[in-house]
Amino acid sequence: RLLIIDFGSQVTQLIARRLRELKVYCEIHPYQKVTDAFLADFAPQAIIFSGGPDSVTREGSPRPPKSAYTLGVPILGICYGQQVMMQDLGGLIEAGQSHTAEFGRAFVTPTDTRLPLLEGWFAEGREQVWMSHGDHVSRIAPGFEVYGTSPGAPFAITADVSRNFYAVQFHPEVHHTPRGAKLYENFVRLAGFTGDWTMASYKDDAIAKIRAQVGDKQVICGLSGGVDSSVAAVLIHEAIGDQLTCVFVDHGLMRLNEADEVVSMFRDHYNIPLIHAEEADLFIGALEGVSDPEVKRKTIGKLFIDVFQREANKIEGAEFLAQGTLYPDVIESVSFSGGPSVTIKSHHNVGGLPEKMGLKLVEPLRELFKDEVRALGRELGLPESFIGRHPFPGPGLAIRCPGEITREKLEILRKADAVYIDQIRKHGLYDEIWQAFVAILPVRTVGVMGDGRTYDYACALRAVTSVDGMTADYYPFSHDFLGETATRIINEVKGINRVTYDITSKPPGTIEWE
Ligand code: XMP
Repeated sequence: RLLIIDFGSQVTQLIARRLRELKVYCEIHPYQKVTDAFLADFAPQAIIFSGGPDSVTREGSPRPPKSAYTLGVPILGICYGQQVMMQDLGGLIEAGQSHTAEFGRAFVTPTDTRLPLLEGWFAEGREQVWMSHGDHVSRIAPGFEVYGTSPGAPFAITADVSRNFYAVQFHPEVHHTPRGAKLYENFVRLAGFTGDWTMASYKDDAIAKIRAQVGDKQVICGLSGGVDSSVAAVLIHEAIGDQLTCVFVDHGLMRLNEADEVVSMFRDHYNIPLIHAEEADLFIGALEGVSDPEVKRKTIGKLFIDVFQREANKIEGAEFLAQGTLYPDVIESVSFSGGPSVTIKSHHNVGGLPEKMGLKLVEPLRELFKDEVRALGRELGLPESFIGRHPFPGPGLAIRCPGEITREKLEILRKADAVYIDQIRKHGLYDEIWQAFVAILPVRTVGVMGDGRTYDYACALRAVTSVDGMTADYYPFSHDFLGETATRIINEVKGINRVTYDITSKPPGTIEWE
């Protein structure tokens, strides 16, 4: 396996992404954690130093342990990682000045293309790369040679072939270095990786790790009905069987029939012990009349923890709490320590719960990206219709009911949403769309049906395409589709007499209405 030492670049996880695409197993660890002992224990087959925001010219700036250079494994340094390597090995770095700083697109020209790292890379004599550096290398370390230059970085690509050390000033992992994946491919090949890492082998490793961690103790898993917690639960069950109990806090804010589907899939199909805490009255009672989105989230989050804790306390001898934490969640907390500067929406989660309950965490998906979780789900035999489901927010329909929440509105919303999703599936569009749902609006409008006047709710349809939910575009449905769907909703759902389509992208909108 390959070790990526994270010096805090915002794009470190993309390095992992590129390597996974090459079927190479890698892990990212923050530099603070990577000590000589850690390295000896991890025994990497190759190491990558990520970029980072600091300056190597600053006293006390982040470093890899010295033993990294004597393990005898190939190392690739990127941006800050390049400068660290140069300085550690005897080169000279100069602090940034405005005329030497370089941000954005640049072109690298080869000075010697015989370097195995560059094989097949320089297709047209020069390559577009993405630079982002203030400091620069002004003298390379002994043993290194220059293989590529750019106007702002005379030492854009350097290497010490005898030691298998490579250093680049740009970021090959980002989209703006269009052929950067080729460099990673060459690097892992020369490090001896054969690209045979698969989900099946991941699954076997994960099961072994869970068994080793848990022993004969009991584990509780909070099930939300979403893909992540479900995959985690099925995987853990495969590892330790009935030492696992799932707790499904049913807040009554799920989509039509969804709660029943979750319960029957886990109980009947997988035979996983499941506590179904049906608490719709508790949640909806507390939410009735609440209209502020943040108060809705906080109310749900607090009740969720209360109910979960109450149910979990009934499981005797539980020592572990399983969570479907994914890789991007983990990385975000390293690279963006301090967190985003403003809270747009306070996503409810069970953070703080394990300490409160004195439980240790089991997080078998910590190293996976979303699409890899789906692949693991397939490997575990979860049905495709379940794995491919659109994301659904923790607070559920409560945040699709702008304004005051009432039982009546939730009921209407649930029916309208079911018709809409049915339409999308019938037209074969479900998998093209990242997320689709109906929001019921806090306004009644006048309509005419037959000979009568109606005075009912208006609703908005939302459908977006996205890669990660961070940005999104509205989905360009045909007018025929929209017209047909509006007619169906108005005919089939009592309580709605007007349908609109939301054509806002994110930003400036968000995906959900609240
Ligand atoms: P926004 O609305 O912020 O949504 O563009 C981005 C993604 O996050 C989901 N979302 C939530 N998920 N708790 C969650 O677990 C929340 O409070 C929450 N709010 C939004 C949203 O459905 C979309 O997939």
